[in-house]
Amino acid sequence: MSKKLAVLPGDGIGIEIVAEALKLLNYLKSNGLALEMIEAPVGGAGYDAAGKPLPDETLELVKESDAILLGAVGGPQYENLPRELRPERGLLGLRSELGLFANLRPAILYPQLADASSLKADVVAGLDIMIVRELTGGIYFGEPRGIREKDNGEREGFNTLVYSESEVDRIARVAFDIAMKRGKRLCSVDKANVLEVSELWREVVTRVGTDYPQVELSHMYVDNAAMQLVKWPRQFDVMVTKNMFGDILSDAAAMLTGSIGMLPSASLDANSKGMYEPIHGSAPDIAGKGVANPLATILSVAMMLRYSLNEMQLAERIEKAVGTVLDAGLRTADITSSGMQEVGTREMGDAVVAALQAG
Ligand code: IPM
Ligand code: MG
Repeated sequence: MSKKLAVLPGDGIGIEIVAEALKLLNYLKSNGLALEMIEAPVGGAGYDAAGKPLPDETLELVKESDAILLGAVGGPQYENLPRELRPERGLLGLRSELGLFANLRPAILYPQLADASSLKADVVAGLDIMIVRELTGGIYFGEPRGIREKDNGEREGFNTLVYSESEVDRIARVAFDIAMKRGKRLCSVDKANVLEVSELWREVVTRVGTDYPQVELSHMYVDNAAMQLVKWPRQFDVMVTKNMFGDILSDAAAMLTGSIGMLPSASLDANSKGMYEPIHGSAPDIAGKGVANPLATILSVAMMLRYSLNEMQLAERIEKAVGTVLDAGLRTADITSSGMQEVGTREMGDAVVAALQAG
């Protein structure tokens, strides 16, 4: 039976990079992949089309889909909208409405790009970290939240960082399961020296760890983790952390690999239904210029094939095709260096399809 994919390009470069992913998916379809693809607006595009960042029809579509491919959301023209109408709310709405609590953000260094990293090549060579970020809880969603006026008339802003044991338990299990399939080392990142919520987090992760005796579990404070990531990143195999810490650490880890334009992500619910997106944003400064790197989105398609559509071989073939294209010296502006052939978004997409065809 054909699977249903919701395609949400969103805003900015989201449109260009998703077009390249669609090119690839259409090629796979013409070679036998049974997939129905339906496009819908989200983010600023959702606001423009229906007056809100997550239009009802889009929500209906994603609920009945097997997987979702997302570009990026946001743009300067939406920055002055009331908070609940801003593009980011569309993204957060998708995560919470679909219960996508497990966010997988791999940071893998393609050997061909070692020179694009801001760290020395020997520090990042062979880098392969999986960050597991809790995505539907913590300070992003905690109540109460808001901006209120104090008795003296001064305003104060407040948010709530809260995690229940079951929320920690389920994300910890996802991380341990992934660690079992990789190097069997898991580092849980928290701030247990200051925060009660982290104290409980650490306790629950440790408890879950007793079900995974083969995994070597360690704990690290988030400030130290940030430092270790740039000092000696290869010490990490799998990291698991709260929503906000994961947001921050995954950007840092991404940069180790040379460009945030290379990294895909998967956000999964309890049944492996997933939303797949590049971890970079909508990059309004380069939107529409045809220079954005489509590889993070193309690699997100590979993750989708692996985690939601059970097409492991196709996933591997796509990842291999990306390697082939990099071997051939093709580079978008964000990863280019001397001696390489600089190409635009479309040429990069075409080259991946051609490599797939040849491989
Ligand atoms: C991310 C982004 C989002 C987040 C924003 C756009 C809401 O930074 O996916 O990392 O903070 O989660
Ligand atoms: Mg982020």
